[in-house]
Amino acid sequence: MALLKIARMGHPVLLQRAEPVEDPGAPEVRRLVADMVETMLDAPGIGLAGSQVHVPLRLFVFHLPSDRNDGTSLPPMAVINPTCEVVGDEQTLRWEGCLSIPGLRAAVPRSVRIRYSGVDCDGQPVGGEVDGLHANVVQHEYDHLDGILYPMRVTDFRHFGFNEEMSRFPPGPVQEAAS
Ligand code: NI
Repeated sequence: MALLKIARMGHPVLLQRAEPVEDPGAPEVRRLVADMVETMLDAPGIGLAGSQVHVPLRLFVFHLPSDRNDGTSLPPMAVINPTCEVVGDEQTLRWEGCLSIPGLRAAVPRSVRIRYSGVDCDGQPVGGEVDGLHANVVQHEYDHLDGILYPMRVTDFRHFGFNEEMSRFPPGPVQEAAS
């Protein structure tokens, strides 16, 4: 396994629409996923998309640590060739960061509930109807596959800043989250 170099905002690979993974069971895909998980955990982050490691394919990895997810955790998993759709009209503001935009965070409008699907490296279906941090992370990572970075979704730039400053001067009440 290896730590991969993470592209930062400004690199054109982050703006590309990623291509489908032809064979999710291919050994090189499994190797890529393992490296992405290692890179994500090392960073540390809770989600990482292919484009962020200079591989513009439609896949991402994520995990849900219990301390950020109401006491329940989800181990690192891969979602390959995902679909993602909104369920209902309810939106919320969630704090997000991104490994490609280090040091910053913003309150981003997101759908509360989504339904997503994809396969893992064994070709097994993954996904479901989810809310909370799970829905937040999947929307953030899915956006990466379409070349969308979270600042493009920010509607109130007063809630966009450096982590260090915002920790010293906590902004208004938006829900805690991050990717
Ligand atoms: Ni990101």
